[in-house]
Amino acid sequence: MYPIKCLITGGTSGLGKATALSLAKLPSSHIIILGRDKNRCEASVSDIIHATGNNLVEYRLADLSSQDSIRRFVLKFKEDGAFINLLINNAGVMCQKRILTADGYEMTFAVNYLAPFLLTNLLIDSLKINTPARIINVASDFHSQEIDFDNLNGEKNFSPFNAYKLSKLALIIFTFQLSKKLLNSNITVNCFHPGFLKTNISRGLAGLYKIGFKAASFIFGKPAEKAASDLTYLAVSPDLNNVTGKYFKGRVESKPAAIAYNNQISEKLWDLSLKLTGLS
Ligand SMILES: NC(=O)c1ccc[n+]([C@@H]2O[C@H](COP(=O)([O-])OP(=O)(O)OC[C@H]3O[C@@H](n4cnc5c(N)ncnc54)[C@H](OP(=O)(O)O)[C@@H]3O)[C@@H](O)[C@H]2O)c1
Repeated sequence: MYPIKCLITGGTSGLGKATALSLAKLPSSHIIILGRDKNRCEASVSDIIHATGNNLVEYRLADLSSQDSIRRFVLKFKEDGAFINLLINNAGVMCQKRILTADGYEMTFAVNYLAPFLLTNLLIDSLKINTPARIINVASDFHSQEIDFDNLNGEKNFSPFNAYKLSKLALIIFTFQLSKKLLNSNITVNCFHPGFLKTNISRGLAGLYKIGFKAASFIFGKPAEKAASDLTYLAVSPDLNNVTGKYFKGRVESKPAAIAYNNQISEKLWDLSLKLTGLS
């Protein structure tokens, strides 16, 4: 799938920035960072160009907590005739409190799950005309074992970690479901657990949650660059040309919670997500 033309979300920090840099080192690669803040995007692009000498690194703006912002980005992207053959849904948040987005969804669920669901579905046609193509969703081993459809928005009860775990399970289910829909399309869809990293992911936490998470990541976390090398492998290795619908821990295929393989749940979540994102 060379040359790589990649759109990566969350390329302004942590794993996303390290992966954008790693991909930018590949011959003729073209990297587009999708971020919400102009200054942070410019800084990231400038750092990556400086470090790699690859001038084909750029950014586009979208706030993934806003479906309107995602739609406006995709519209402009297509109007410009831009295309990609690699989509990495990497951006993610943890939120201490239950914050509702402008669309009325709980922030963690909106950014970590609904945003990649919407963005990917809106970009599928661009990927289809540039096959072979790959989609990689950055999930986490820290995901729920079950799904409460009456609490997707944290409306019954909310905890930062439960909201995060739910969003990551939903992303894994989405990955598997999309891979089935894209069988024989020459687009593979996989998800990736990067391991426990030293990044800024805990910035939305507060109090003991934040102290505990920061201390643990300081002691046990690995550098984002290590996980970026694994994610780059998933993104470009010919070993994975025909591998789709899988969950990877690092470079190793693994199994998420059993519920991720439940067809009834997967179809229910898909249909609901179409409604929540205005796609149906
Ligand atoms: N860190 C870990 O131990 C770990 C473990 C498993 C999985 N993960 C997953 O790895 C991925 C990357 O996280 P990280 O650890 O690298 O964390 P990070 O350093 O905090 O990076 C998160 C990225 O997401 C972006 N982002 C957040 N909200 C956004 C929004 N509304 N619109 C657009 N972009 C937004 C951030 O942009 P700004 O710079 O604008 O804030 C940032 O670039 C996440 O999906 C995370 O859940 C992390």
